[in-house]
Amino acid sequence: MPLLDIQDLSASYGKALALESVSLQVEPGELVGVLGPNGAGKTTLLKAVSRSLAASGTLKLEGRSLLGYAAHEVVGLGICHCPEGRRLFSELSVRKNLELGAYLRSSRQEIAADMDKVLTLFPILRERLDQMVSTLSGGQQQFVAIARALMGRPRLLLLDEPSVGIAHKLKIEIFDAIRTIAASGVAVLMAEQDALNTLRVAQRIYVLENGRIAHQGSSSEMAGDDHIRRIYLGV
Ligand SMILES: Nc1ncnc2c1ncn2[C@@H]1O[C@H](COP(=O)(O)OP(=O)(O)OP(=O)(O)O)[C@@H](O)[C@H]1O
Ligand SMILES: [Mg+2]
Repeated sequence: MPLLDIQDLSASYGKALALESVSLQVEPGELVGVLGPNGAGKTTLLKAVSRSLAASGTLKLEGRSLLGYAAHEVVGLGICHCPEGRRLFSELSVRKNLELGAYLRSSRQEIAADMDKVLTLFPILRERLDQMVSTLSGGQQQFVAIARALMGRPRLLLLDEPSVGIAHKLKIEIFDAIRTIAASGVAVLMAEQDALNTLRVAQRIYVLENGRIAHQGSSSEMAGDDHIRRIYLGV
């Protein structure tokens, strides 16, 4: 059974349909990329999965429909959403932001162990634990956003354009960290515009265009597809 099973999912803003009959699956521990141009519906798709936007169709986590759950409830089911624009508490410390990611959990011991894990994944944050988030670089803030989502102990991590606006070197670190997260058993559904790096780290890719899945396949198939190469890789 897939971890996440989406069939014929549609969502709209008022009368404007933003997601039309989308079907997509994520297996446990799989890293799946969603590519597509601006306005394709990537953010809408992730919001529908995390229930921050109403949608119709089939949306199941391990066979259980999510449609009856509210956004704050799906966190408890194991879905953590790292949204576009990060939405961190910028006037609070790195430590406080990470602790807030674990707000639903009660075992202090487990929280401390996970804190240590995310600080091993992003070592620079260990040095900056008591620094206010607003004083970090954009790339470092993205580390905090991903680390905070991990503090919720997700089985499925939703990442919305984690590399946008970030300099090359930190971008590579972010993509490598995301690959490490998936290798540790956390499934990842990641919207991105950086096709090259997404093809590099993801196992499978869906391409969204105008709210519909236009292409899908393994990263190696997609990397060899002429349409994908022309549109998304510019080669
Ligand atoms: N709050 C909203 N109200 C009305 N229309 C919206 C709203 N949010 C998004 N849309 C529209 O829905 C469509 C899909 O937008 P979405 O944000 O999902 O695209 P995206 O693929 O994430 O784009 P980007 O790469 O620019 O982040 C677009 O046509 C957009 O204009
Ligand atoms: Mg978006």
